[in-house]
Amino acid sequence: MGPGFAKWIITVAFCWLIQIASGNSVEQKIYVELNNTVPCVRLLNATHQMGCQSSISGNTGVLHMLETDSDLDIILRTGPHAPYMVLMDAGFFNSSIMLRMKNSTRIAGVAVVIPNSGPLEGFSPHNTCPNQHTGVYSDSYGPRLADCNGTIWNRLGNGLSFEDFKFPIFSLKDDNQTGVIRKCVSDHNMGVNGSTPAFPLCAMQLFSHMHAVTSTATCMRRNDIQNNYSLNPETVCDPLGDYNVWAPLRPINSTEKGHKANESVVVAATRLDGRTFFWDIATGAEGTVAGFVTLLAASQALKLTARQAPPPRNILFAFFQGEAFDYIGSSRMVYDMENNNFLIDLENVHSVLEIGQVGLRRGSELWLHTDPVSRRNDTSVNTEVEKLLKNMTSVAAALSLSLAEPNATQPLPPSSFQRFLRSRQIPGVVLADHQSAFNNRYYESVYDNAAYLNVTYPSDLTPEEQLVFVTDTAKALAEVATLVARSLYLQAGGEDSQLDNITADPNIVTQLLYGFLIQSNNSYFRSLTNPEDKSLLESQAPQYYVGVPITANTIKRSTRMVQYLLANYIGNPTSLNQSKCQDPSGMPGESKELYSYLWVRGANGSEPSPFCVRSTVRRTHAISPAFELKQYDSQTYSTWTESRWKLIRARIFLVASHELEMLTLGVGLAVLLLSLFVTYFVSTKADLIFAPAQESTGTAY
Ligand SMILES: *[C@@H]1O[C@H](CO)[C@@H](O)[C@H](O)[C@H]1NC(C)=O
Ligand SMILES: *[C@@H]1O[C@H](CO)[C@@H](O)[C@H](O)[C@H]1NC(C)=O
Ligand SMILES: *[C@@H]1O[C@H](CO)[C@@H](O)[C@H](O)[C@H]1NC(C)=O
Ligand SMILES: *[C@@H]1O[C@H](CO)[C@@H](O)[C@H](O)[C@H]1NC(C)=O
Ligand SMILES: *[C@@H]1O[C@H](CO)[C@@H](O)[C@H](O)[C@H]1NC(C)=O
Ligand SMILES: *[C@@H]1O[C@H](CO)[C@@H](O)[C@H](O)[C@H]1NC(C)=O
Ligand SMILES: *[C@@H]1O[C@H](CO)[C@@H](O)[C@H](O)[C@H]1NC(C)=O
Ligand SMILES: *[C@@H]1O[C@H](CO)[C@@H](O)[C@H](O)[C@H]1NC(C)=O
Ligand SMILES: *[C@@H]1O[C@H](CO)[C@@H](O)[C@H](O)[C@H]1NC(C)=O
Ligand SMILES: *[C@@H]1O[C@H](CO)[C@@H](O)[C@H](O)[C@H]1NC(C)=O
Ligand SMILES: *[C@@H]1O[C@H](CO)[C@@H](O)[C@H](O)[C@H]1NC(C)=O
Ligand SMILES: *[C@@H]1O[C@H](CO)[C@@H](O)[C@H](O)[C@H]1NC(C)=O
Repeated sequence: MGPGFAKWIITVAFCWLIQIASGNSVEQKIYVELNNTVPCVRLLNATHQMGCQSSISGNTGVLHMLETDSDLDIILRTGPHAPYMVLMDAGFFNSSIMLRMKNSTRIAGVAVVIPNSGPLEGFSPHNTCPNQHTGVYSDSYGPRLADCNGTIWNRLGNGLSFEDFKFPIFSLKDDNQTGVIRKCVSDHNMGVNGSTPAFPLCAMQLFSHMHAVTSTATCMRRNDIQNNYSLNPETVCDPLGDYNVWAPLRPINSTEKGHKANESVVVAATRLDGRTFFWDIATGAEGTVAGFVTLLAASQALKLTARQAPPPRNILFAFFQGEAFDYIGSSRMVYDMENNNFLIDLENVHSVLEIGQVGLRRGSELWLHTDPVSRRNDTSVNTEVEKLLKNMTSVAAALSLSLAEPNATQPLPPSSFQRFLRSRQIPGVVLADHQSAFNNRYYESVYDNAAYLNVTYPSDLTPEEQLVFVTDTAKALAEVATLVARSLYLQAGGEDSQLDNITADPNIVTQLLYGFLIQSNNSYFRSLTNPEDKSLLESQAPQYYVGVPITANTIKRSTRMVQYLLANYIGNPTSLNQSKCQDPSGMPGESKELYSYLWVRGANGSEPSPFCVRSTVRRTHAISPAFELKQYDSQTYSTWTESRWKLIRARIFLVASHELEMLTLGVGLAVLLLSLFVTYFVSTKADLIFAPAQESTGTAY
């Protein structure tokens, strides 16, 4: 009975201990995972790291809703529960508030609730002078125009995307999930009548620990060391990049690279990517989509006439990836041209017509931006530029568009064309809807979306009805596409008399806008792509952040989609079957040196009948030459990398107070000691206490 009693005491004490120690953490275990979140991640350039990260075990803090200035004061100075997780509406997500938080040690992290439309006054987390150091203007080329001196392109840029935050920042959609968080906060974290709220409190934990540190130079060196000396190397960062999509109107033999004796090529360029503060969300309606949809529609409009009355010069359609990050795509193509690693070289480039941001016209106005330095320096360049301007103005006269030139001293806006000019003085024009500063009030932000471009539909339409509902935006962009197509035709030396035959189709622009801004999984896109390419189409808008290749041969969805569309628009159906489509060698008239072949589903609406499209569309790497050259601190080429991470996660739960936890621990320890003492006492003095007992004791343990 003696040892039994001792055991009983120990057991009771132990249970009590456990119960006390865990009393409050019963609630703590009730985690609510937040599924619809997007983190800000760490990006690095040659010299800096920027973006956000959590500690390796995640950052935890008591949630506080930032709704008034006094909340800011509580969070940053007076609140008793620091460090805080700040839950804010997007209205507070600006540089003055975020920089104060960055400066503070009382912030565990930030969750921003992003609405569908941006603040009226505009919002851009980009900087005011995009791609400032990698354009053409520098100390050696138009020094007075360098660094956006005089022309601040993105006036509203607050630079948040370039700040380095030591805490995690996540975005939340304004949906039921934020309702759950708000309820948790209002149930637990609101003191009655302004008093300090009592425990347990609603807390949030964010995980976004980043492996790469300091700069691209540092993390690439670490990658290299790992690859050379480690048995299972762990990459810490990857270069941003994907593929450029391009196609000459007339086929060029791709076996021979470098200069082509009889080619004179007009380059029609635009960009394929954008970015925002948060990782992998970039809808880029005005910043990206309006431009490339215009060029796609222009290529479609040109096709018939180009075949029936081919212009003497060739036209190269070029869609550049990674332009938002110091011109990754265009700098790579120019580099390849310079190193005889492309179909043509820079000498073959007759001129460049680039489509910039064209979706937000004020009335009928479009602007023709040119480079004042090359025009002043070289009269032959100036003459060619003037011809191009004249070509375009004459085309516009027949349309309801009015073209104007900005001030003669104004530099080019940020554009891929600048990367061509860095290497050779080529005549060219950048077409845009803005005279100087961007019209786009949401440049490289989450609000540059379909609604901002007025791509919206009456609420009673089904998705398939929306797909073919011609919006005013589609009509406006079709007009611009007509201008572009006709100008390209003239610029390539085509006949004036053919121009009336070249007209972009608003119905096609409509479907392109729907597919690229609302959802890519629609009957139009399905009919123009390979049915076996399952992962291509999504029930949402594609994202245009260039990102990093997940495996060696991953290609971004938007890149592949543009490739398919361009192939359908400028290519021709063939009678090849599916296997011959992959390898048409030996078939008369077919050649992989001149053409590429894509298998597509066919038929929009009725029974699909798949066929093989022969076109000149190709893809080439859009990885910055800095990584080919291993110049990770390059000043000339983009050096952007994205850090790797293991875990991105957000959850909320209730926490007990820190003091309460300490108290619980203290009581627990006291109980343990007491019970040890009691046990010891009982077992040593057992014969005295339980005198009648027969057995010997001392083995209570
Ligand atoms: C940032 O947001 C706060 C709250 O909406 C506002 O008071 C402040 O003026 C804003 N600061 C800037 C620089 O826009
Ligand atoms: C951040 O802190 C530094 C030094 O404490 C101060 O000089 C700076 O003005 C602060 N910045 C902001 C945005 O509060
Ligand atoms: C001006 O033109 C000359 C020859 O045409 C060329 O060598 C020089 O690099 C040009 N200057 C600039 C600033 O591009
Ligand atoms: C900026 O432009 C102005 C006017 O063109 C000029 O006077 C000034 O020297 C330029 N600044 C720099 C740093 O080049
Ligand atoms: C890297 O980014 C930082 C922050 O935006 C910038 O100050 C710096 O000039 C950039 N470095 C290079 C080499 O572009
Ligand atoms: C969100 O809440 C509304 C109303 O409470 C409900 O009808 C809807 O189904 C919920 N949506 C999701 C995705 O849970
Ligand atoms: C997230 O998903 C999990 C599992 O699907 C679900 O249990 C949880 O309720 C979701 N969280 C929210 C906030 O909807
Ligand atoms: C392409 O060029 C290569 C090398 O000059 C040549 O052998 C081949 O016949 C050419 N192909 C076509 C289809 O002209
Ligand atoms: C979008 O619609 C609004 C309201 O109808 C109009 O003021 C605005 O100009 C339109 N924007 C474009 C780009 O058409
Ligand atoms: C063009 O530039 C000149 C000199 O810099 C300036 O006086 C004039 O106002 C500018 N014109 C426009 C339309 O901006
Ligand atoms: C348009 O420009 C091209 C290239 O400069 C030129 O060859 C052509 O004659 C021009 N066409 C017209 C109609 O001016
Ligand atoms: C193109 O225009 C010319 C002159 O207007 C006309 O004769 C010709 O038939 C048209 N071609 C097509 C394919 O419409």
